[in-house]
Amino acid sequence: MKTKITELFGIKHPIIQGGMHHVGFAELAAAVSNAGGLGTITGLTQGTPIKLANEIARCKEMTDKPFAVNLTFLPSLTPPDYPGLIKEIIDAGVPVVETAGRNPAEYLPALKEAGIKIIHKCTSVRHSLKAQDIGCDAVSVDGFECGGHPGEDDIPNFILLPRAADELEIPFVASGGMADGRSLVGAMALGAEGMNMGTRFIATQDAPVHQNVKEAIVNASELDTRLVMRSLRNTERVLNNEAVERLMEKEKALGADLKFEDIIDEVAGVYPKIMHEGTMEAGAWSCGMVAGLVNDIPTVQDLIDGIMSQADEIINSRLKNF
Ligand SMILES: Cc1cc2nc3c(=O)[nH]c(=O)nc-3n(C[C@H](O)[C@H](O)[C@H](O)COP(=O)(O)O)c2cc1C
Repeated sequence: MKTKITELFGIKHPIIQGGMHHVGFAELAAAVSNAGGLGTITGLTQGTPIKLANEIARCKEMTDKPFAVNLTFLPSLTPPDYPGLIKEIIDAGVPVVETAGRNPAEYLPALKEAGIKIIHKCTSVRHSLKAQDIGCDAVSVDGFECGGHPGEDDIPNFILLPRAADELEIPFVASGGMADGRSLVGAMALGAEGMNMGTRFIATQDAPVHQNVKEAIVNASELDTRLVMRSLRNTERVLNNEAVERLMEKEKALGADLKFEDIIDEVAGVYPKIMHEGTMEAGAWSCGMVAGLVNDIPTVQDLIDGIMSQADEIINSRLKNF
């Protein structure tokens, strides 16, 4: 399938794996890229420039296809060494960077000068237009359904995608709630040039996370996610568990007085325990409503092949027969 996104990134299928903390390691990124999509290493999980350089080198050993690095810009008291991380990305010749979080404008000149394509992930039309203005090559439009941070506007993709299509000149992919060939064709009907998936890619044999995480997604329904940290204006969609119930009790009790320190046990440093040790009640972890559509743990190759053949069947037989 040829779209503006496959052309822009030099990939076979218009399917991107979004950056995911403690999930987006070289194994997953390489598997997605080898299957014809665009895999992504999560920069901040590596943390230091030298570790990121090693992870990029590992990925290059596993694939000769293009892959991306995600750089998430979060407000932080001790910010990561972004210039150092960017230098390693440039030196390694990584062709694509997925930016997310706050406005990445100050880092764009260095990346663009090196010929790197930038796809910025954001949750509103106004932020998408801003990304276009500052020179991003594409946008990943992340609807309210998404796992992770859906922003504060709560606009689902059935509205957000056609709104983006009406306003944007640069190409965009649909993100949030995407799982299969139906998602891809639906997103493209609404104006997207491809799709970005997070949660669906965790429940694959290639994702380097504990089996308990994959099974938790398979066992979850579309009713099992919760929004937390809304009062901190840092809303996150997570899979419900004991830690999340505890967190929500604190939110209810403290209301507008809630501070990050009040919920530190439930949210800080929990990813390694969950993703690598499989301790599922250790804290709150991002998961999309799309868990309701995830019923198996295929290889990434089988997942992507299945998506593309289902999309083909929908376009060339189901829709044609109407
Ligand atoms: C476990 C998990 C961790 C994530 N971590 C990040 C991250 O570090 N940076 C980022 O930009 N997005 C992150 N995301 C968001 C994904 O890249 C993607 O935008 C989102 O999962 C799309 O929604 P979906 O889960 O419905 O497919 C994360 C998502 C999940 C599920």
